[in-house]
Amino acid sequence: MTLGVCYYPDHWPRDRWREDAAAMRERGIERVRIGEFAWSLLEPDPGRYDFAWLDEAMDVFAEAGLGVVLGTPTPTPPKWLIDAHPDVLPVGPDGRVRGFGSRRHYCFRSRTYARETERIVGALAERYGHHPALAAWQTDNEYGCHDTTRCWCDTCRADFRTWLEARYGTPEALNEAWWTTFWSQTYRSFDEVELPGQAVTESNPSHELDFRRFASDGVVAYDALQRAAIRRHSDAPIVHNSMMLFPDYDHVDLADGLDVVAFDNYPLGQLEESPFDDATKARYLRTGHPDLVALSHDLYRGLKDAPHWVMEQQPGQVNWAPSNPLPADGAVRLWTLQGLGHGAEMVSWFRWRAAVGAQETNHAGLLRHDATPDQAFEEAGRVADDVGAPRAGAASAAARDVAAGLADAATPRASVAILFDYDDVWASEIQPHTAGFGYWGQVLTYYAALRGLDLDVDLVPKKKLGLPAADGGRDLAPYAAVIAPAMQLVSDDLAATFEAYVRAGGRLLFGPRSGARTPSGLAQAPAPGPLRPLIGGRVTRIDGLRRGVTRTLEADGATYTYGTWADLLEADAEGEVRATYHDPAYRGAAAWVARRHGDGEASLLGAWLEPAALRPLLRPWLEAAGVTPRELPDDVRRAGRWWLNFGDTDRTVDGVTIPALDAVEVDAG
Ligand code: GAL
Ligand code: ZN
Repeated sequence: MTLGVCYYPDHWPRDRWREDAAAMRERGIERVRIGEFAWSLLEPDPGRYDFAWLDEAMDVFAEAGLGVVLGTPTPTPPKWLIDAHPDVLPVGPDGRVRGFGSRRHYCFRSRTYARETERIVGALAERYGHHPALAAWQTDNEYGCHDTTRCWCDTCRADFRTWLEARYGTPEALNEAWWTTFWSQTYRSFDEVELPGQAVTESNPSHELDFRRFASDGVVAYDALQRAAIRRHSDAPIVHNSMMLFPDYDHVDLADGLDVVAFDNYPLGQLEESPFDDATKARYLRTGHPDLVALSHDLYRGLKDAPHWVMEQQPGQVNWAPSNPLPADGAVRLWTLQGLGHGAEMVSWFRWRAAVGAQETNHAGLLRHDATPDQAFEEAGRVADDVGAPRAGAASAAARDVAAGLADAATPRASVAILFDYDDVWASEIQPHTAGFGYWGQVLTYYAALRGLDLDVDLVPKKKLGLPAADGGRDLAPYAAVIAPAMQLVSDDLAATFEAYVRAGGRLLFGPRSGARTPSGLAQAPAPGPLRPLIGGRVTRIDGLRRGVTRTLEADGATYTYGTWADLLEADAEGEVRATYHDPAYRGAAAWVARRHGDGEASLLGAWLEPAALRPLLRPWLEAAGVTPRELPDDVRRAGRWWLNFGDTDRTVDGVTIPALDAVEVDAG
């Protein structure tokens, strides 16, 4: 594993650079990410480039043996550019232009911005594409951050109409796909279609779904434009840093074009912003929720089924969550080892030194504002020793190259897969139907139950199933068991892929809402549509419970509690009822219906259970699939070759004691 750090030579006097670079090497750091917001320094006036400072910084890093991940500065177009081309600015759903003064103030579809992007990215790629310090390129920074994936400008409106025409061909086809006779929404031409989200009450959900698809395509096309500008001058690997579990664009599509995928890991900020209840947030206040963090790792590794990077790793408190607690002593080290255990080839801290001014003044770094070591600086040193990162006193051999690092990275091999898909994310977001129903919440529930049973999990993109390997196609055959939570949109082709897996002996479990909608967002009549013959049953009604209300169901003589959601099921003649609801309003409906197909089986479990309730329910199901689960204490998780204890009391697993907030090698016992 390689360690890295995000650094801003543009923020500090030149006479610090050498000293900082040497201190990084002493901490075992081999990569440094720079430049992603530096446009106004690189091009102080239109067309007048100033590369002198970056030339010097690159040379300093090269001499120190640091590999540079060079960010393209496009998240922050300078003031002169915006003043000359106000059409670059994005427009919010309220119709107001989002102005200059922070970041991400551009529309992904602005033609002007495409030209300006090609120009600045091309100039950088030409100058540094063969620099000895260059390890990789990062395109832009956190696409979509601050709600910027969707834009309501005139260009976006016109492009959306063209996009719809390409998708549907005729207005009649669109009317049918969106069911527009409802509320008199019929369109006579594509030019009549507006952008959704500006109507009196909710817009048509199929309209919303297509707008999200369209906006996502815009991000992916914009990234392709950046990559092409780089590729004209450089063949270094290209990466983009996404936010943890960010829902607004399709990561699978973005990953297709990238050489490496990366995400930014902020366990405490993420927990604060997550849908967990207050008790859970309080409990994991200083460590983050271990399964939430691990889920991000497995998701980003899963995008390309290859080692990923953590481009930004929280080093201390952040500045942007509703409250920003300090991490526990040892947490920064645990997060880094957790990354390694889940297949990350690089973990890079954000940031080297705390910013003395501007928006992120309250954000910690490895060094404090005054450049004295903060707590994470010590932990970074411990991590370097844990992972055997070379710690140099001075300049040393060039940092190992990206390809070699990726080839060395250990990718866990799982026997259980969870399927995910961004169309399904959007369908849940557009019509959650009950407060608390969320796509990632569903995925996390199953994921946490499996992790609590000490199982490695692969996240597999639904849209890659059934494709040829050359197109990144993925196969379910290697998995003993597969879970599909909240997979709302199901086509006939997808159902056929599932059927083949099950007939070959696979075990498939669908969660609540599965198969509820067609790919354009209409109701399957009845749900789960083409999955019905597979599971041997159908959904007759649905129940959206209010927050805090729970009910029970019965399986194999035991009682389990659920909340938020219930699909009420009825078994067909070939199906078998595995669990039944207690609530009299359900009139004896089934909660879990299954159908065997030779050695394989498929089933739908309609209730949303907590991970603790799911574990005992899933155990026999997993055992029947030939998987061997074992129950772990809540705070302990295995990540690759480490036991990690995120709690504040010592724990024992298999006779091995894992001290509080510490890591122990699994085979140490
Ligand atoms: C990330 C972003 C960084 C910085 C950081 C603060 O989302 O990429 O530029 O803002 O958050 O935690
Ligand atoms: Zn726009």
